[in-house]
Amino acid sequence: MEALRVISEDHRNLWRIAATIDIVADEMESGSKVDPAFFTSIFDYIEHFMDACHHTKEDDYLFPALRLRSEEAGAILDRLQAEHRNGPEILKSLRQQLAETAAGKLGNAEFAAALRTYTQSLKSHIRTEEKDAMPLAREVLTADDWADIDRAFLDSDDPMFGEKANAEFRELFHRVASLAPESIGLGAQSAGELQPGAAKGVGEVLLSVSGLESCYGRIKALKGIDFEVRRGETVALVGANGAGKTTLLRTLSGVQPMSAGSIRFAGEDISKLRSDMRMRNGICQSPEGRQVFGPLSIEDNLRLGAYTQPKGQVADDMEKVFSMFPILKEKRNLPAGTLSGGQQQMLAIGRALMGRPKLLLLDEPSMGLAPLLVQEVFNVVRTLKAQGMTIILAEQNAFAALAIADRGYVLETGTITLSGTGQELISNEQVRAAYLGM
Ligand SMILES: Nc1ncnc2c1ncn2[C@@H]1O[C@H](COP(=O)(O)OP(=O)(O)O)[C@@H](O)[C@H]1O
Ligand SMILES: [Mg+2]
Repeated sequence: MEALRVISEDHRNLWRIAATIDIVADEMESGSKVDPAFFTSIFDYIEHFMDACHHTKEDDYLFPALRLRSEEAGAILDRLQAEHRNGPEILKSLRQQLAETAAGKLGNAEFAAALRTYTQSLKSHIRTEEKDAMPLAREVLTADDWADIDRAFLDSDDPMFGEKANAEFRELFHRVASLAPESIGLGAQSAGELQPGAAKGVGEVLLSVSGLESCYGRIKALKGIDFEVRRGETVALVGANGAGKTTLLRTLSGVQPMSAGSIRFAGEDISKLRSDMRMRNGICQSPEGRQVFGPLSIEDNLRLGAYTQPKGQVADDMEKVFSMFPILKEKRNLPAGTLSGGQQQMLAIGRALMGRPKLLLLDEPSMGLAPLLVQEVFNVVRTLKAQGMTIILAEQNAFAALAIADRGYVLETGTITLSGTGQELISNEQVRAAYLGM
């Protein structure tokens, strides 16, 4: 039933897009200007992601099997598939109306109304799939059916389902997030590139932690942690507020003292190294709550991330960060405090990248962001992963973190209670009940 997980993940992304369109429609009605580039990026995303890929997957693989196994599926699927067929035509008409609005021939309010009709039908379509079609599929499809369907959905070389296609969708989503108004997106005028790169795969053990303890006064916040991270892995660290995620990351980067245990990094015991030496060795952290230096310019914030690095490489590295996050380049001379929350998060990640990390520690990068940006942050993490970066991702947003992680650890009051691959943990009943609200 992996296919259903893929479909649900698609739905979550589409729902975020629908919610974003609704917000922008509200803003248009209260007089804000229509940005054709932003809407074009949304329509492109819908066309490539939903019409050409998501619907095709369902129409070619899932729905035919469902029709064979269930009489009652016919009525539901007739409606859903009629909507699939109409999708491209509706999108064409929205593009037309966008052009007319931009040319002043159609009022903002009328365009906003057309957008709302569209998002309502999109949401209703997703609801019917989630509430009717998918439960039915779970009930009636056989193990053999699933084997066939899942094979198609999980083929990573497939031009429609594979990693390359996914990287292209991420790029399109990135454009949407970049062009969205600053209240809900990055608010840049130009979208940068999240280059997919070539994943190098998982290598030897890079970090290995054993018996790690850390205290605040007499309170033990970490009670003997054992875990490891291999080169090229993305490891999620999930757990409720207060579980000890931040303490663990800070203990790794050396800004929080440890009281027992050992940390080995790249074959060396670094337990006694100061934090700046650990950073020089390549352990770089994007802290919880971003912690950018508000009065300093964006450029100076980025330079601080490179203070352990040779001066000669800083300008080039900064350009690399700017190519990922063009909004930072546009505002490079402004105080970081003037950035929106999402922009500050990108700055915090960019600052960590300036230290040329071998191990990147990300502490709750999605905290407090608008839904569109939550997804965008995870896309950034995916891109870094695809470039071969080794990452520890601490998140309360357990589902999204586990969905992109190779492996994960569940932390509860200073103790690791579960570990496994990202997918194992997502399917684990205990994890679903405690962290995924399912
Ligand atoms: N500066 C501090 N002083 C005292 N206790 C702290 C401090 N920071 C965190 N704690 C405690 O340590 C535990 C772990 O916190 P933290 O690492 O921030 O968890 P998480 O990041 O998972 O939310 C919590 O019980 C928290 O109250
Ligand atoms: Mg924390």
